Amino acid sequence: MSFSDLASGVASQRPSAWTERLLIEYLPDSAPKTRDETTGADVVQGLSQVQKTLPPKYFYDDRGSQLFEQICSLPEYYLTRTETAILQTYANDLTRLTGECELVELGSGSSTKTRLLLNAYQDLNYPLHYRPIDVSAGILESSAHRLLEDYPGLNVHALVGTYELGLKHLSDSYLSKRMISFLGSSLGNLTSEECDRFFTQIAAALHPGDYFLLGVDLHKATAQLEAAYNDKQGITAEFNLNILRHLNQRFNGNFDLTQFQHVAFYNEALHQIEMHLRSLKNQVATLAGLDFVVELEAGETIQSEISRKFDLPTLQHQLQNSGLNYVRSWMDANQWFALAVFERRNS
Ligand code: AVI
Repeated sequence: MSFSDLASGVASQRPSAWTERLLIEYLPDSAPKTRDETTGADVVQGLSQVQKTLPPKYFYDDRGSQLFEQICSLPEYYLTRTETAILQTYANDLTRLTGECELVELGSGSSTKTRLLLNAYQDLNYPLHYRPIDVSAGILESSAHRLLEDYPGLNVHALVGTYELGLKHLSDSYLSKRMISFLGSSLGNLTSEECDRFFTQIAAALHPGDYFLLGVDLHKATAQLEAAYNDKQGITAEFNLNILRHLNQRFNGNFDLTQFQHVAFYNEALHQIEMHLRSLKNQVATLAGLDFVVELEAGETIQSEISRKFDLPTLQHQLQNSGLNYVRSWMDANQWFALAVFERRNS
């Protein structure tokens, strides 16, 4: 079956030049939601622990995604800017190293950074095949159309779904090699055990000689890290509180957002920023849609996110154990952020 034979209904409403170059695939259980999300079992489980937690994926409703976009351009939030600058400087070195490659991107969003890689592959006259994977069909569709307009030689096969589903459903590469990219230090939002499972899934989606490109935030001074998650404009605080607003709307809840406070601090022992929502009084909230009641004492917190910070040797070791050999990395002059490339070895 050819690329254009596979074109979806969404793509076929577009001009034919796009239809031939665009495929949007909706993964089996990407819509509606995964079982846990539909039932809210993950919310109930998190809020039933001694240290109450919430799955960070509930940050990202439409409002949460907009707030995250704003976070990325905040003066204190150096991560996005620094990673982009590394890509701007070193994309050519990277593409020369990998040679011709199909590009798979996990959590592609607006694909802004990917353009730097596509430009570099294009400069080398390599064919351009891009497979963005994202849970948001709307963002995937609009960014794919913009890319197809700007890169006449590009083919896009977008997958709507979670990383896990996307990695499981990746068909054979369109080109002789594949590179999976996971940028933005999103790895930091996974626990160490989740990282191990994730690296195993990455390795399974690659053939020997294929590549994995990882963007990670590195260890640094506590003050700089804490400033990045406690910005002066209060956008991160709004992003954090929005998780409760989203739960209220989704599960018919009554969390009173005025009775919670954003807290973010660097846990130096665990090398992670922790974001919490601190209850300002003894209170009871109900999520009627989940038939669940949560009691909070004044001062008690709900942990809403961890954002781990890495050092390259430890990371190399962890990936090595999953069959991914370190090849090379690039950093900014301050060594705040790293872009590292790994190669799937023969098992
Ligand atoms: C998506 N992720 C990499 C961000 C981070 O820095 O951990 C999420 C974020 N949370 C607060 N600010 C940004």
